[in-house]
Amino acid sequence: MKDRRKREVVTWSRFFWCTIFVVLSSILFTGFTFSTFRLFGESFRPVLLSSWPNPTLEALSGENPSSPPIEIRATVIFPDQVLIFLKYPPSVPLFTKELLDCVYFPMNSSRTQLKLPPSWVDGENPNNQIVRCPPQAGPTRTISLAWKSSGHLRAGPTHRWDSLVYEALVDRDNTTVLFVKGLNLRSDRLSDPTRFECLYGWDFKNPRLVLKSKVISAAQEIVRCRTPLSVLDRTFDSIKVSLVVNHKGILQSVAQPQRLPAPDSNEKQEMCVCTMVRNQARFLREWVMYHARIGVNRWFIYDNNSDDDIEHVVDSLDGSGFNVTRHTWPWIKTQEAGFAHCALRARDSCEWVGFIDVDEFLHLPLQSDTNNQTVSSLHDLLSQQPHWLGELRLWCYSFGPSGLKKVPEGGVTVGYTCRLGVPERHKSIIRPEALNPALINVVHHFHLRDGFKYMNVDRGLMVINHYKYQVWEVFKEKFYRRVATYVADWQEDENVGSKDRAPGLGTKAVEPDDWSNRFCEVTDTGLKDWVMRVMADPHTQVLPWQQQEEEEREDRLFLIEEDKIKNKRRRRKRRREKRDTD
Ligand SMILES: *[C@@H]1O[C@H](CO)[C@@H](O)[C@H](O)[C@H]1NC(C)=O
Ligand SMILES: *[C@@H]1O[C@H](CO)[C@@H](O)[C@H](O)[C@H]1NC(C)=O
Ligand SMILES: *[C@@H]1O[C@H](CO)[C@@H](O)[C@H](O)[C@H]1NC(C)=O
Ligand SMILES: *[C@@H]1O[C@H](CO)[C@@H](O)[C@H](O)[C@H]1NC(C)=O
Ligand SMILES: *[C@@H]1O[C@H](CO)[C@@H](O)[C@H](O)[C@H]1NC(C)=O
Repeated sequence: MKDRRKREVVTWSRFFWCTIFVVLSSILFTGFTFSTFRLFGESFRPVLLSSWPNPTLEALSGENPSSPPIEIRATVIFPDQVLIFLKYPPSVPLFTKELLDCVYFPMNSSRTQLKLPPSWVDGENPNNQIVRCPPQAGPTRTISLAWKSSGHLRAGPTHRWDSLVYEALVDRDNTTVLFVKGLNLRSDRLSDPTRFECLYGWDFKNPRLVLKSKVISAAQEIVRCRTPLSVLDRTFDSIKVSLVVNHKGILQSVAQPQRLPAPDSNEKQEMCVCTMVRNQARFLREWVMYHARIGVNRWFIYDNNSDDDIEHVVDSLDGSGFNVTRHTWPWIKTQEAGFAHCALRARDSCEWVGFIDVDEFLHLPLQSDTNNQTVSSLHDLLSQQPHWLGELRLWCYSFGPSGLKKVPEGGVTVGYTCRLGVPERHKSIIRPEALNPALINVVHHFHLRDGFKYMNVDRGLMVINHYKYQVWEVFKEKFYRRVATYVADWQEDENVGSKDRAPGLGTKAVEPDDWSNRFCEVTDTGLKDWVMRVMADPHTQVLPWQQQEEEEREDRLFLIEEDKIKNKRRRRKRRREKRDTD
């Protein structure tokens, strides 16, 4: 469990002096070649110079490191929420929801400010804690955060989600990969890189504190540019990167370049998986444990605003030896960019990366065939591929509710056994080394470098079991979420209105009488049989994911019980003491 304690609020005078110091030290910072670049464009809104203090600053000013400055790095307005990115020095306990209020300052300053509790506080990245606030009710001047007990933070710059540089990674060749909203570049094509320029700095408003660099490639939402040497030579601190678009101006940015972690060793994991989720924590255990059993080594989970149990489930899987990490990914309509981001992060440590959803399970039918010694495991299949094979394309079988009316206790793999006869669409497993440097990908397929090819995998060797139409209770959530654009982002955008919509459902989330028997054309118990034979406890038939959940429930009950006993003891002691004093 993460340690989250309350900490002190920074004083205004400290803020002030930090700001002065950072301004001075930035000007003195000689590694910076000053650019004569001038700002233009109406869409540009001034960015406040933030007081990002660094450790040397604290040391110099004799600040007590136990009460470091905390500030709002940026605020991004989404249609259904407001995200506030907090900045504070590492190794400091994170905030909890209970400690904070979102504060809205209305346009008319005469009106009193509005306070609402945050809907979620996400501490995945201790360097960049994110507070999710409810959407603003009316015209709002600024949004800030307040402690329940005392004053509020200075509001940071406010940005719109749809025109923003939102993430940046420094690749191993030292180029920076920017993830950008609002460029509206053509899908599936390289765009003209000379239309753009990258900008590095703390304050894009001040042209003398900004470094320009050349853009190498631009495609879809991804721009790759050279990283200036004087930026590379530093530890980045809180430097931000943004983009100049010809004739339009500078985009707003919340992106601080992050270096990809160096691999621990030269030994790569054979198979990793990238996925995007939203409130699907309860499916994660089975999905991770099953895939671990067939040979997946590492899971990258991109979390789109989940407010379920996901942090807890990921921690618990991680604690049981599964290499699972969660990455906050709140950006709208960014499935392709998210896959590219994940592929980059996975490249140095994974030989193969699969892109599948948490209701999709890789199934190797021959694995069930105990007599067949030819190709049976994932390892067999992957290790047999020639080096020029860059992508394996897999068919997906869509499973229906299989006659069930209630969520199957043993999990989806053993619960759903009836599916449509004809497979749908492809999903892929790629070799990240084979990706084109522009990272173009469309509907689950990346463009490959020259010299790499893809292959369609025979359905008899490996296929994806997609538990797409589960019992109504589960399906209806998906339905509510996507009733407007049922085929949400990380399904296929291209397929809106086609076969990916649940046929015959209209727009009302009312259970059709025959739901449990729909989408059932072929009985397919291949995966179920294998899971029961290989993974279930031979005596109790209990599956490992059930076991883990059960153990955790018992732990929780035990803790509650323990608390009760302690309280009882305390009460007894107090009574005794009272008797004694009487
Ligand atoms: C703000 O005040 C002006 C004039 O006092 C008024 O016309 C306007 O409607 C007010 N706006 C809001 C959001 O209350
Ligand atoms: C990247 O930059 C670092 C720091 O300047 C340097 O040590 C390294 O050699 C560079 N790598 C490449 C591939 O240019
Ligand atoms: C995340 O969920 C929101 C709905 O709140 C949706 O608009 C957005 O497109 C999703 N992001 C991705 C990457 O699919
Ligand atoms: C988890 O995966 C990363 C690569 O993404 C690797 O560097 C690390 O060693 C793995 N950790 C464990 C415990 O296997
Ligand atoms: C094993 O599987 C391969 C590939 O599908 C097939 O060609 C072969 O006939 C099978 N062998 C046996 C003994 O079933």
